[in-house]
Amino acid sequence: MTRVFSGIKPTGHLTLGNYLGAMRQWAAVDQHQADALFCIVDLHGMTVDHDPARLRRLTRQAATLLLAAGLDPELCTVFVQSHVDEHTRLSYLMECVATDGEMRRMIQYKEKVASEAVRGRSVRLSLLTYPALMAADILAYGADEVPVGDDQAQHVELTRDLAVRFNQRYGHTFVVPKATVPKVAARVMNLQDPMSKMGKSDDSGPGVVYLLDEPEVIRKKIMRAVTDSGQEVVYDREEQPGVANLLEILAACTGGNPESLATVHDSYGALKRATADAVLDVLGPVQARHKELCVDPGYVEEVLRHGAEKARAIARPIVDTAYRAIGLLPPGAFAEDAVAQPAVNAAR
Ligand code: TYM
Repeated sequence: MTRVFSGIKPTGHLTLGNYLGAMRQWAAVDQHQADALFCIVDLHGMTVDHDPARLRRLTRQAATLLLAAGLDPELCTVFVQSHVDEHTRLSYLMECVATDGEMRRMIQYKEKVASEAVRGRSVRLSLLTYPALMAADILAYGADEVPVGDDQAQHVELTRDLAVRFNQRYGHTFVVPKATVPKVAARVMNLQDPMSKMGKSDDSGPGVVYLLDEPEVIRKKIMRAVTDSGQEVVYDREEQPGVANLLEILAACTGGNPESLATVHDSYGALKRATADAVLDVLGPVQARHKELCVDPGYVEEVLRHGAEKARAIARPIVDTAYRAIGLLPPGAFAEDAVAQPAVNAAR
């Protein structure tokens, strides 16, 4: 059976981008068709300035929202990254396989460094090594597929390179995974700035639809979305990025396609109203289920505890194999190795 792994970072409140680009696919398809693991990657949440209490709060909220979005613990494994030590154990090995240049080429790293430099600030070292931890997240589970939005494709590509390199140098150890990206809404853009991605840590609140925004707030944000200078509704990402973004959101929410939806709506106002209705239809049940789950934190806790146990049972042997392959002496194997190795080699 295909194994799927994906993760979400609790660095801010989850957005419509997270939902349409990733979570929806996890709930609607992946958990039914694959042996799927979904992880709240809290260690990644510390690669930027963070407040400890907020990180804990956002981790709880992300876990609750994943279940509210339809992840079913009977069908898949949901857990928190820091509950399974194998991620950090393997991350160091990935750092020993990756190069400094590879890490510095990552677009997300370059963008963050540039934006912090403008404010005269530096970035954490963990931001640079982030892709090594992400590679460890994926490789520790022998995942075949990694369902992500478009912005994570480069990190998955690097994961593939590291897996291949490790296997070539130290013997076949890892499955080489591939990214799977949704056909529409793989990159939901900021409603106020359709040239930038809708991100959870954006300063621009009005351009970001959060999954837990009140319905009237969601409607207002969509009705005030920046559109383009023309009048006609056409699907053209280059020339009309604002309209194209709304068409993609509408298509993703209704199961349609952006080109044909462009012919249905004859004004920007009509398109915005239809998009707001469609988003509210999709998010309404998620918000209702979230409210129910918040009343029962013990249930979510139990899901995460059980999830971590299942995850550990998969990751431990894979990471142990990698430790052995790379040349680390396993505890308790001192005598075994000494006997197996001729004295002349042992002396080298
Ligand atoms: P994160 O937390 O930024 O996003 C979680 C998922 O949501 C997708 N996404 C989007 N999709 C479409 N449009 C958007 N505007 C949008 N914003 C976010 C992301 O592509 C992602 O699939 N590095 C990862 C977390 C991670 C991970 C992993 C993912 C850590 N380890 C291992 C997969 C496998 C991240 O920051 O995602």
